[in-house]
Amino acid sequence: VLLPPEPGLPYLRGGAAGRQRTDPGSIAVREGRVAALVADPAADRRLDASGCALVPGLVDCHTHLPFAGWRADEYALKVAGAGYEEIARRGGGIRRTAKALAEASDEEVLAQSRDLAGEALRLGTTAFETKSGYGLSREAELRSLRLAGRLAAEVPQAVTRTALLAHALPEGRSADEWMDEVEAMLPEVVAAGAEALDAYVESIAFTNAHLERMGALARDAGLALRAHVEQFASHGSVPVAIAAGARSVDHCSFLPPEEAPLLAAAECAAVLLPSAELLGEERTAPGRALMDAGAICALATDLNPGTSPVASLPLVIGLAVRRYRWTPEEAFAACTLNAAWVLGRSADVGSLEPGKRADLVVLDGPIDRVPYRLGHDPVVAVVVAGDVVHLRAGAEGRLRP
Ligand code: NIG
Ligand code: FE
Repeated sequence: VLLPPEPGLPYLRGGAAGRQRTDPGSIAVREGRVAALVADPAADRRLDASGCALVPGLVDCHTHLPFAGWRADEYALKVAGAGYEEIARRGGGIRRTAKALAEASDEEVLAQSRDLAGEALRLGTTAFETKSGYGLSREAELRSLRLAGRLAAEVPQAVTRTALLAHALPEGRSADEWMDEVEAMLPEVVAAGAEALDAYVESIAFTNAHLERMGALARDAGLALRAHVEQFASHGSVPVAIAAGARSVDHCSFLPPEEAPLLAAAECAAVLLPSAELLGEERTAPGRALMDAGAICALATDLNPGTSPVASLPLVIGLAVRRYRWTPEEAFAACTLNAAWVLGRSADVGSLEPGKRADLVVLDGPIDRVPYRLGHDPVVAVVVAGDVVHLRAGAEGRLRP
């Protein structure tokens, strides 16, 4: 059983991740919550996890669900050497998915998103973030948030909503004009259930000044601030995001390792996205330096049709261990408790502690097998709020009576 170093921690900074314990034991669940870290002899149902590891449900704190369609042809161009900016100029990229979303019916978008949430569930994801950002107009961004709300009602996972309101520049607008519109739509964004705002700082997108403004808007609206930064180049956005009160800085591939201490001194997580780095042949984020400095490190899939069509956190754990030189314990902390903190949910999910929601994953071997057996599906069973929502074929006998 993978346990935090002590109960009640909101996140595990750097070295604290290595102080998690994997003790032999059992978990008792009552009314959807962890009741105790020992077996309950009076339990009316049992899940036999002998020979397995029991870990907290995985938390995917950065996805771009809901979206429509895929862009496999762009991946082929990328493999042949075309850059992200060139693909965007040729009509691909974010605007292309925005068009696909606009042309898809609500039911089509929900069907694709539900399938992906189901795939993620079977791979151990028991909570995930959704983002708008493929709307690129007031109405379409609000539609995206509403669809995320419908998705949340249809899947077993805990789902949070982030409004990525500065993603790509809407056609025929200056970035400043668009930010004025963002400001005007915020009451509706809050009413649509958004808990965080997000902005993408890049040469083809928005600037640090827009990130600052998004931070001020988030503060005024009582929302968290997230930011896509340092993905394809270094823009010095991390200190700007920290000053703007960001909960997280995501990507950080081009973060100069010297800036790792800034994050160690801040209550702002570095959300690293190694599948986007691998598929885009991006630079590798300074994961080891961030962990050693004592930053709050999180890991996520970045699930989206462009940079990371990947729904598997076990795969992401494998990439993080190899590319960032993290231990398996560090990688698990990054996509359980720390990811839950990024979503504002670490008091409720992210670790196996009495009182928290009983979101559990049973793995078919010790946790160090997950990164080592890259590409293998290690998930035997998934439990959400005390209900067994997935059981690997052949493992039915583990559930009694
Ligand atoms: O996180 N960087 C910006 N946004 C996404 C990619 C979106 C897309 O290509 O559709 C990301 O990588
Ligand atoms: Fe992203």
